[in-house]
Amino acid sequence: MDGTVTVSGRQLANKWLKTNALRSHPAIARHIPPTSLYSSAALRRMLDLYGSVVLKPVRGTGGLGVMKASREGSRYVLRHMSGARSFPAFEGLRRAVDAKRRGRAYLIQKDVRLATVGGRPVDYRVKVVKTAGGEWVFRSMVGRLARKGLFVTNLCRGGTLLKAAHGIRMSLSPRLVGVKKRQMRNLTRTATSLLESRFPGLTQLGYDYGIDRNGQIWILEVNTRPH
Ligand SMILES: Nc1ncnc2c1ncn2[C@@H]1O[C@H](COP(=O)(O)OP(=O)(O)OP(=O)(O)O)[C@@H](O)[C@H]1O
Ligand SMILES: [Mg+2]
Repeated sequence: MDGTVTVSGRQLANKWLKTNALRSHPAIARHIPPTSLYSSAALRRMLDLYGSVVLKPVRGTGGLGVMKASREGSRYVLRHMSGARSFPAFEGLRRAVDAKRRGRAYLIQKDVRLATVGGRPVDYRVKVVKTAGGEWVFRSMVGRLARKGLFVTNLCRGGTLLKAAHGIRMSLSPRLVGVKKRQMRNLTRTATSLLESRFPGLTQLGYDYGIDRNGQIWILEVNTRPH
C-alpha cells in the first residue's frame, strides 16, 4: 500500500491511501487530523478521545455519505445531511452508522471544529495544475460556506463559494488573512511534491483545507481530479 503507484491521469480515489502518504512527511503530518479506518472499536476510542468525529467513505465524493458522530453528555448523536439522531448508548449509534455504511469502508477523522460564519462552517479549496513544462502552478483558492444546517461545505450539497480572504476575515480575523493564505500555499507546495513522488502521473490536485477556531490549518482531503 505504501509503495509508488502510477496514476497517469486516473483518479486516485482511495482516501486512506492518500492520508497515509501525507502522514509519512512530518511537516505535513502535523496538519492531518487524527484518522483511522472505521471499526466500531475505533469509533468508540476516537469518540472517547475527541468527543466528535467525522465519518467518510474511503471512496466518497461530493460530501455523499459523510456523517458526524458526537458524544453529548451521556448520549451519542449522529448527524447526516440536515438530520440528527440521538442514542442513549454507543450500541444504538453503532447500529445507525452501520445501516448508513452498508458495508462500505469508511474513515473516522477527528472533527476539527471548523471556524464558522453565522454558525455555518467554512473551508477552503486550493487548486494546482501541472503545466506542459512540468511546473506546478496555483489555479485558485476559494472559501466554501456550508448551507445553513449542514456541516459539509460541498457546493453540490448547497454550499456557497466566497473569497478565501472573506472567509478568513469573517470566521477568524482580518489580521489572519495574509498569514493563513500563505500557510495554505506553502503546505500545498510541500504536499504536492510529496504526492507527486508517491503517485507519478498526477496533473492536477485540489486540496480541501479546514481552519479550526484556533486558526490551525488542517488538510481534510486531497482530490486528484478536482472539479
Ligand atoms: N475532519 C473534519 N472535521 C470537520 N469537518 C470535516 C472534516 N472532514 C470533512 N469535513 C467536512 O465534510 C466535507 C466533506 O469531506 P471530504 O472533502 O473529506 O469528502 P468529500 O467532499 O465527499 O470528498 P471529495 O472532496 O473527494 O468530493 C468537507 O468539505 C468539510 O466541510
Ligand atoms: Mg471534499
